[in-house]
Amino acid sequence: MLSIAIDGPAGAGKSTIARTAAGALRFIYVDTGALYRAIGYHGLQVGADLTDTAAIKALLPGLQVDLRFVEGQQRVFVGGEDVSDFIRSPQVSKAASQVSAVQEVRDFLMETQRSLARKNSVIMDGRDIGTVVLPDADLKIFLTASPEARAQRRCKELEEKGSPMPYEEVLRDIQQRDYDDSHREAAPLKQAADAVLVDTSELNLAESVDAVCTLIRQRL
Ligand code: C5P
Repeated sequence: MLSIAIDGPAGAGKSTIARTAAGALRFIYVDTGALYRAIGYHGLQVGADLTDTAAIKALLPGLQVDLRFVEGQQRVFVGGEDVSDFIRSPQVSKAASQVSAVQEVRDFLMETQRSLARKNSVIMDGRDIGTVVLPDADLKIFLTASPEARAQRRCKELEEKGSPMPYEEVLRDIQQRDYDDSHREAAPLKQAADAVLVDTSELNLAESVDAVCTLIRQRL
């Protein structure tokens, strides 16, 4: 069983790169952001005040959040309902960032993440995989790109999905989320001391996947 941890800021291409690399190398791709998004989405659905830590903690007792893999594709479930198609909006991104700052939420999701890595060879992406969730991962990659490169990519993605947003606004969102994710007390985003840095600002998707696959193959 091999575990590959890929951490980095929003929009660095982690999920696309990790998914593609996992497909090529026959690992399971685990997108841990989906777990935080699922809890954020649930909070919005029930009208919780996500600026209030106590209200966020109150969401947890009895809550069931899990990942299942259908034909290799990850789906995320809340209370048995597949919410995967509802968690990609900017509102849910913000809600995910809010709930993820609460330590109890992180603890709540820990075992789900670790047990997947115990049972499968995984490429797991997130913010704290190499630092907290899988500190003994066989390979840790910190995948990043300049905020401008990331904003440009996100704009293109949103346009392709038919919900364009102005570049300035996307850039501001990314910078805010970077700041929030790296300045919070609970598991802030940071490069693990033993992680390999991959900067994709100047790389296209194929080149980025190649860089990541090369690193992984060196550990096989
Ligand atoms: O990766 P993604 O953008 O889907 O993650 C959504 C949010 O969930 C992030 O902005 C971050 O706040 C949080 N997150 C986290 N730890 C992880 C994965 C995601 O705190 N391992």
